Amino acid sequence: MERLQKVMAEAGVASRRHSEQIILEGRVTVNGKKVTTLGTKVDGNDVVAVDGVPLQKEQHEYFLLNKPRGVISSAHDEHGRKTVVDLLKKEGIDERIYPVGRLDYDTTGALLLTNDGDLANKLMHPRFEINKTYIAKVRGLVTNNDLRTLRRGVKIDGKMTRESHPRLVETNRAKKTSRVKITIHEGRYHQVKKMFEAVGHPVIKLHRESYGFLDLSGLASGEFRPLRTAEVRDLREL
Ligand code: URA
Repeated sequence: MERLQKVMAEAGVASRRHSEQIILEGRVTVNGKKVTTLGTKVDGNDVVAVDGVPLQKEQHEYFLLNKPRGVISSAHDEHGRKTVVDLLKKEGIDERIYPVGRLDYDTTGALLLTNDGDLANKLMHPRFEINKTYIAKVRGLVTNNDLRTLRRGVKIDGKMTRESHPRLVETNRAKKTSRVKITIHEGRYHQVKKMFEAVGHPVIKLHRESYGFLDLSGLASGEFRPLRTAEVRDLREL
């Protein structure tokens, strides 16, 4: 469910502010009934009309990107750095597409982008957080004890992380580094980096191998593909 003024703004009627004005002027109907209350919420099944003209429904689009390093996971960057949305725009994707969650500037890998706000909110909801699998290259030789601590949860920003699933991939004794595959179910800020920091193994490189059942097969760094209809359906049904 979305607020009426947001739906109007997204359909290109006017800014949210101006859309509120239009609602207050009594020019908006939902399923044929005049609505003048600003908090009103509507969903995709409601027919919203302004001055009797139904809003054009935005076609939903879904993309999986293999995010390269050095790109911001947001639609705009106040410092003018390249964003994931710029990568899609360059290939002619012109819709208002947003990333679902974020990957750090220096993190690479699987990132979902969509203009389907309902699905994005659902996937990002803390109660619902989807499995995310990362490969972390970290400083030091990770021990079984470290893995156990990571699995059970560590305190970051004053709060324990939920159970995670770490597995040692390899250690390099000469360079004193390790590679760990880890699946987490939350999406806290800098979560993976902070978890490894908490067990004394700062992250050198971080790559997200998969997001739920979506992996990066066939996608080189910087490439993206539209999701298949069945994948969108499966994300909705997760
Ligand atoms: N955890 C991090 O620390 N960074 C990311 O980009 C994703 C998860």
